[in-house]
Amino acid sequence: MRITLPALQKMAQSQQKFTALTCYDATFATVLESAGIDVLLIGDSLGNVLHGAETTLSVTLEDMIYHTRCVARGASNALIMTDMPFGSYQTSPEHAFANAAKMMAAGAHIVKIEGGQIMADTIQFLTQRGIPVCAHIGLTPQSIHQLGGYKLQGNTEKSAKHLLDDAKILEKAGASLVVLEVVPAKLAQTITQTLSIPTIGIGAGPHCSAQVLVLHDMLGLHHGKKPRFVKDFLTGSQSIQQAIANYVTAVKAGQFPSEEHEF
Ligand code: KIV
Repeated sequence: MRITLPALQKMAQSQQKFTALTCYDATFATVLESAGIDVLLIGDSLGNVLHGAETTLSVTLEDMIYHTRCVARGASNALIMTDMPFGSYQTSPEHAFANAAKMMAAGAHIVKIEGGQIMADTIQFLTQRGIPVCAHIGLTPQSIHQLGGYKLQGNTEKSAKHLLDDAKILEKAGASLVVLEVVPAKLAQTITQTLSIPTIGIGAGPHCSAQVLVLHDMLGLHHGKKPRFVKDFLTGSQSIQQAIANYVTAVKAGQFPSEEHEF
């Protein structure tokens, strides 16, 4: 049976963790959902892991539509979430709606948008017109040049308050889920306890309602230095399927992320 947003909401309310991983093709979509992954994220991280680009800024709407179609063909149970790529949603809510509608037509069930309160009007516009939205705050890779690097966000009193305010405003605007990327575990816990919608953490500690990782990272396939929040689940597992199943078990049991993965 297909996982729905109300089902995820119910899991979060009953303190049952759910799981997400990035996914870019049909074969992995089938493998991931068979191993128990609830949410398949067609992340614009495909710019890094598939295209070999340094940032996600060059990913196009066409790229995201193509990979959403591929994943949708391989998934019959998981919820499919697609990233809106850089430049496809920032100019106006109307422009965002036109592009998000293309993602939904390609097979997405929800779109993900990076940014804080500045995105509230767009989130309201989309959700009032039938397109569910996952907000994404903290380390937002599309703003990498403004942030000055892939580094911890919300680590001062002022910036932590700002992120908490953003989260509240985006929930009020209609977001169904919020991704918290590379923020202190304590802040992610406060945001998770404050909101009534589920939070999905990546580098945000163990207190979020769910966890997400980039598929290639958790299979030990990263170029360069492994980020602190990543765990290689393939080493020590018999197969890719087993590695994914071990990730699901570890997240659901609250064993991943552990202290060594948090800030
Ligand atoms: O693009 C992506 O893979 C993401 C996750 C890192 C959350 O947005």
